[in-house]
Amino acid sequence: MDLDQIDRRRIPVHIACVMDGNGRWATTRGLPRTEGHAAGEEALFDAVEGALELGVKWLTVYAFSTENWRRPPDEVRYLMRFNESLLSRRRNELHDLGVRIRFAGRRDWRVPKSVLRQMDEAAELTKRNKKMTLTIAFNYGGRAEIVDAVRALVAEGVKPEKIDEKAIAKHLYDPTMPDPDLMVRTSGEHRISNFLLWELAYSELIFTDVLWPDFRREHLFEAVLEFQRRDRRFGGVDS
Ligand code: IPE
Ligand code: IPE
Ligand code: MG
Repeated sequence: MDLDQIDRRRIPVHIACVMDGNGRWATTRGLPRTEGHAAGEEALFDAVEGALELGVKWLTVYAFSTENWRRPPDEVRYLMRFNESLLSRRRNELHDLGVRIRFAGRRDWRVPKSVLRQMDEAAELTKRNKKMTLTIAFNYGGRAEIVDAVRALVAEGVKPEKIDEKAIAKHLYDPTMPDPDLMVRTSGEHRISNFLLWELAYSELIFTDVLWPDFRREHLFEAVLEFQRRDRRFGGVDS
């Protein structure tokens, strides 16, 4: 595709990705599902570079959901170790690219301490970077995030009449994160799977049949082009 087709003045500020289809990518090749997760690393880094090329300021990727604990223990263990090793192997590279790494999700007892440590180190190392924020949704659930926000409000003793959309938004995992303009899901599934339920209220949703390990920056560019063809009305009428 021709990059010139993309209107540089209307780049989505925030793109969210559901990185799906790793298991099927591996299975069709006669490989164990975990090989699909490993192959997804290249797709992630290509998407990050593509987003930087476009000037996207926020990229959020769904790496592990609160429902993914239902998977076989071996696969869960693999995903924990894989994310841990990815962070330790590649945080310097992301740092050099000017990417600020953040995490969204629950830090509960099921997440191994060593994984939490890598997450903290990656966030600490990159916290002053300004080019783009890469938020990794890990042990993330959209409903859990809303529950956690409401719990925080109650714990603060906020009066019911003071609870409004702004108050809830201020208690989400990252109150500074703008709502995604665009959500891309790979692998042909047309669902949200508990991703960013609050934040996706008015996002443009794009679904592609490409399996995540095959996803490259060109697919991201295609999605941005499609996004730019859409007419966002936010409940109003065209002016
Ligand atoms: C997405 O790929 C990665 C995670 C959920 C961690 P899947 O593992 O869901 O792959 P499919 O959907 O089974 O093909
Ligand atoms: C969503 O994919 C979660 C991640 C990509 C991390 P799933 O593969 O878990 O979603 P379902 O089960 O198809 O809804
Ligand atoms: Mg899946």
